[in-house]
Amino acid sequence: MILDLRSDTVTRPSQVMRQRMSEAEVGDDVFGDDPTIKKLERKVAEILGMEAGLFVPSGTMGNLLAVMTHCCSRGSEVILGDKSHIFLYEQGGYAQFGGVSTKTVETLPDGTFSLKELVSKFSGSKSHCATTSLICIENTSNFVGGRVLPVEFIDSVVELANTRNLPVHVDGARLFNAAVSSGFPPSRLVKGCASCNICLSKGLGAPIGSVLVGKEDFIARARRTRKALGGGMRQVGILGAAGLVALENIQRLHEDHANAKKFAEGLRNYCSH
Ligand SMILES: Cc1ncc(COP(=O)(O)O)c(C=O)c1O
Repeated sequence: MILDLRSDTVTRPSQVMRQRMSEAEVGDDVFGDDPTIKKLERKVAEILGMEAGLFVPSGTMGNLLAVMTHCCSRGSEVILGDKSHIFLYEQGGYAQFGGVSTKTVETLPDGTFSLKELVSKFSGSKSHCATTSLICIENTSNFVGGRVLPVEFIDSVVELANTRNLPVHVDGARLFNAAVSSGFPPSRLVKGCASCNICLSKGLGAPIGSVLVGKEDFIARARRTRKALGGGMRQVGILGAAGLVALENIQRLHEDHANAKKFAEGLRNYCSH
């Protein structure tokens, strides 16, 4: 048997998933008529303790919508880790499509960054500077080996952001892995954060899809921008049904973690001989 370990996205929809997709109740979601996608959006929002959700085709679009919605005034900037996916691997979409600029803080080997450095990056009220409008964190932190952010770090970032009235967005492409690994419920990992994007196609087996969550008015604004970016979808409940099965797969993530640990141990033993 060949195991394809390039990514947790290299999956095939299960028979159950295909079956549920074929039976999904659908409607035209641009008219707000698709019951299955609404169910998925509600369910993800509920799991994360947020008011509302928005289905998007990809993590990249979810993150882009979050940045564009939080940084909607011209001259806005986002502060994020220099090894974050949004900064390195999403084509600078925030600048390309949103006209948003960035300041980076050094991503440390555990996925965190220095709060002191963060404070030093906040723009003052000078007319010379872009206006700091958002802080992003990533959990798990992909480019440092999938590290799980300590909950104390998340709390400190939120606390600091609150003192400046700044929203915190979580790139939670693999937030459920972080929850399983840390033992905290997913809602605890985004407590006090303004928004989070989770992926259904990473480790959970859905062929496509992410869900952006946040407050009702934030999601309403993101929904409008999604349409402008060409992301309005019609009978999308077909994909929503796959997403609902993917959510059921969260309970099996601990098996992936156990397998990954076993594989790492095997490699370590092999390399030490
Ligand atoms: C941390 C992180 N954020 C966002 C994304 C983007 O997701 P997508 O490939 O669905 O656009 C990825 C993709 O691997 C990721 O690892």
